[in-house]
Amino acid sequence: MAAKVVLGLQWGDEGKGKIIDILAEDADVIVRFQGGNNAGHTVEIGDDQFILHLIPSGILRPNSSCIIGNGVVVDPIGLVAEIEGLESRGISVRDRLQLSSRAHLVLRFHKELDAWKESRNNGKIGTTLRGIGPAYADKANRIGIRASSLKNKSKLEQQYKSNLAEINTLFATDNTPPLDANEEWAIFEKSVAEVAPLVTDTTMSVNEALQEKKSVLFEGAQGTWLDIDHGTYPFVTSSNTTIGGVCTGAGVAPQCIEKVIGVAKAYTTRVGGGAFPTELSAVEADALRKAGNEFGATTGRPRRCGWFDAVATRYAVMLNGVDALVVTKLDVLDHLESIRICTGYRINGVEINTMPADIDDLENVVPIYEDFSGWQCSTTDVREWNALPENAKNYLERLSELVGARIEMISIGPRRRQAFTI
Ligand code: GDP
Ligand code: IMO
Ligand code: MG
Repeated sequence: MAAKVVLGLQWGDEGKGKIIDILAEDADVIVRFQGGNNAGHTVEIGDDQFILHLIPSGILRPNSSCIIGNGVVVDPIGLVAEIEGLESRGISVRDRLQLSSRAHLVLRFHKELDAWKESRNNGKIGTTLRGIGPAYADKANRIGIRASSLKNKSKLEQQYKSNLAEINTLFATDNTPPLDANEEWAIFEKSVAEVAPLVTDTTMSVNEALQEKKSVLFEGAQGTWLDIDHGTYPFVTSSNTTIGGVCTGAGVAPQCIEKVIGVAKAYTTRVGGGAFPTELSAVEADALRKAGNEFGATTGRPRRCGWFDAVATRYAVMLNGVDALVVTKLDVLDHLESIRICTGYRINGVEINTMPADIDDLENVVPIYEDFSGWQCSTTDVREWNALPENAKNYLERLSELVGARIEMISIGPRRRQAFTI
């Protein structure tokens, strides 16, 4: 039994895709267990850039097979587009990809509903508009449509149109024009024949792989603070992005997990609404955004930028039982004269060093910072710990101490080879 989990310790976009791609070189099976195509995982190989949304990033390694587990919500139209995009670039997908028969489908009306809710809410959450919340809501509400239904088209059509009618009833409450059931079905129907052959009992596939002592890698999407239970609710996504999501979202027992790898940027970013204690002022954030090319891989939105938050990350390390830390995007700090790490919060003058559950409390915390001198030279060509500038080592050593996890890998550029283990 040799399974590793890679998950994000911040608000997503930590560089998980790149790390999965590196680790997938030695993995037989790569499994997504939650989220949907709200994820955007970037892998750069030489001059080629790939952005994966639903398909595990391991697909770029020709000898591995990939699984979309039961905990993922899958937009069949998006999936077909992603498969075709990869195949047009010479990557074989269909023969190496399985989709869980228990995964729930994201349909076009879920996206419409997502947009409708956001528009009534002044875009408060700032979702990716991929229909993720409404699809998970249908699942919890026991009216969702699962991938297994793709094999029974007449039943599927009936269920599709009945769910769509419910949304039209809701839309009628504020005179939003209704969706045309026949038109919508006709668009969706085209993807059915493409996706149905991928559908199988992936719980069996993953457990068989584990029993055969194959190396399995679980690929997290989003990040700890977007978790529906533990995150900065209600400014979260609708799935469990944290460690428990692996067991429920892939159908495996906890004993199979031998290592939890937590990925964190050397600073912090967040896309969408919600509290962000270490957020920088507009001018400072602009500079970091430019240096780190911090624009959403799925929506293109500018990411909010801030200093590394050791309070939030320490909590994430504890929650997920992180065994090893990967720090990404260290190179983005190369130009800075001085750098800060948030080591604690103050609420109403009282110091705390944990995450408040109440979103208003989190909005009102005042971060306590520790200051570090920058190294002001390029780290992009560094390939070993000893070659890092002294100030970079000081920064990383303190960061590791504050979050309570050993740093195992450092990433110093977007490309596959721009990383090293320590
Ligand atoms: P993910 O969602 O966690 O997979 O992360 P994203 O792909 O959304 O965002 C990470 C971005 O940073 C992508 O554009 C990556 O190509 C890029 N990236 C990853 N690691 C590094 C790094 O160490 N340095 C720099 N400069 N860019 C990186
Ligand atoms: P990866 O896997 C960063 C954010 C959205 C929004 C909130 C809810 O690339 O790290 P949703 O569409 O899920 O209902 O939006 O979650 N969000 C992400 N932020 N990275 C992601 O994925 C995200 N997926 C969702 O911006 O604030
Ligand atoms: Mg991303």
